[in-house]
Amino acid sequence: MDIHRYEKIWIAISLLFIVGLIASVVYGVIGLGVTTTGNSHETINSNDLSNTEFADPGGRWVESDHYVVDVVTRQFLFQPGTQTPIMVPANTTVTFRVASPDVVHGFEVVGTNINVIVVPGQVNRFSTTFDQPNTYGIVCNEYCGAGHQNMQGQLVVVP
Ligand code: CUA
Repeated sequence: MDIHRYEKIWIAISLLFIVGLIASVVYGVIGLGVTTTGNSHETINSNDLSNTEFADPGGRWVESDHYVVDVVTRQFLFQPGTQTPIMVPANTTVTFRVASPDVVHGFEVVGTNINVIVVPGQVNRFSTTFDQPNTYGIVCNEYCGAGHQNMQGQLVVVP
């Protein structure tokens, strides 16, 4: 029994789509030289961030191989990240703690699999390791008000 030539072509195209879909899922999970683990939440009083570590957001070493960085997402900037970049070390466990004092924001590090939603009242906490020095853009991908499209930042991974 012969398969019609056009039918073969369409079977090939649909197989290509399936392979492409699987590849894109795998790529999304693996990311670009970034592995993310342990996403968890702790609660926080979003009206009172000034009495927490988030009063002075930024990074700190907690152990010789573990860096923690506190980030505030607010209308319409990242602290740090917008006026000054977030600086983190390469080849080290980096734990991000991200909190919002106002509305829901996104925290996406473009080109990696870091992409979280920041809900007021919760600290979005996750750990990751950057394989090599690089500079990444940060964007907010939850609509958060009139300046949403200007809410951008930068993450610098240093050697
Ligand atoms: Cu913050 Cu959109």
